[in-house]
Amino acid sequence: MALTSVLVLGPTGGFGQFLVPELIRRKASFKRIGAFVDVTRPQDDKKIKALQDYAENGVEIVKASPGDSEPFRGENQPALIDTAISAGVKHWYPSEFGADLTVGDNWNERYYRDKVVTRKYLQQKAAEDPDFGFTYFLNGRFMEWAPSPHFGIDLKAHTARFVGTPDMEQSMLATNDAAKFLVCTLLDPPTTQERTYRFLGGNYSWTTIFSTLEKIQGVKWTISQKSVEQARENQRKAIETGNVDAELAASHQVIQGTGRTLLPGPYDNERFPEVEPQGLEETWTAMLENTEKFAILGVKH
Ligand SMILES: NC(=O)c1ccc[n+]([C@@H]2O[C@H](COP(=O)([O-])OP(=O)(O)OC[C@H]3O[C@@H](n4cnc5c(N)ncnc54)[C@H](OP(=O)(O)O)[C@@H]3O)[C@@H](O)[C@H]2O)c1
Repeated sequence: MALTSVLVLGPTGGFGQFLVPELIRRKASFKRIGAFVDVTRPQDDKKIKALQDYAENGVEIVKASPGDSEPFRGENQPALIDTAISAGVKHWYPSEFGADLTVGDNWNERYYRDKVVTRKYLQQKAAEDPDFGFTYFLNGRFMEWAPSPHFGIDLKAHTARFVGTPDMEQSMLATNDAAKFLVCTLLDPPTTQERTYRFLGGNYSWTTIFSTLEKIQGVKWTISQKSVEQARENQRKAIETGNVDAELAASHQVIQGTGRTLLPGPYDNERFPEVEPQGLEETWTAMLENTEKFAILGVKH
């Protein structure tokens, strides 16, 4: 059976802001579309407007309030999975949307710690209940999140300090294409308890990444390299000072710099030919024309 009753957690987040509109676009194929919102979290005009738009388009807004039990407010996925299962949920899409955790030593990398915990928990839950299943959605990196200051790339100053070698490739998919593929997978009935989809927009080297940015912006970039060892040293320092954000950024830079954001095939793109993924230049041109959705890039206008 296709997964036609869906509740989106994080509907106004980075990915949710693409996913819910895509679900709305295809709402004729769904019985119920819900958006889960913790009303105790900060609200701004953008978030309020997005939720209003969703509601006006038939999305049920499921509100959690301060009186709710801990799991509803918890940040960790196992607690949310327990809550979902006790409410009768039979299928879970964990918050993956990235690299293949089984590549290289990704499984032990700090950046993926919570995703590994979640994978183990899902496997445990599936072993306990043969009717419970889950889907891993892998896309390498979201294209629009890649050129961010968090990873040493500054779109305003046109400077970059990357880890690895110029010819090292990473897999990327435009966020909107990820949303499109994800909705296709919901409508593809699961036949096993565990399934994995791999979708690709393209594999791009650092050389291509920066030449594309230079072409779009019409500006020469100042680019330097950092070794994997330096990134690892930064991670160690961040651990010492308790700077979790810096620790995660350095861990991810090590992953990028050792080619572990390259998603191995085979890819599932051809199973859903209705989705034609956009390339890097097209995606980044559109992103730079409308940066509102990508606050992380630091170039919001
Ligand atoms: N591969 C890549 O390049 C890449 C890039 C980005 C993200 N990702 C992945 O995509 C997934 C989604 O990330 P994202 O960027 O969409 O994250 P995000 O922008 O931080 O959004 C998280 C969403 O979850 C909500 N939320 C967070 N904690 C909550 C809680 N305790 N209770 C209820 N709601 C809560 C947030 O609500 P508010 O709106 O109230 O803040 C927000 O809507 C993650 O798995 C991430 O690793 C991958």
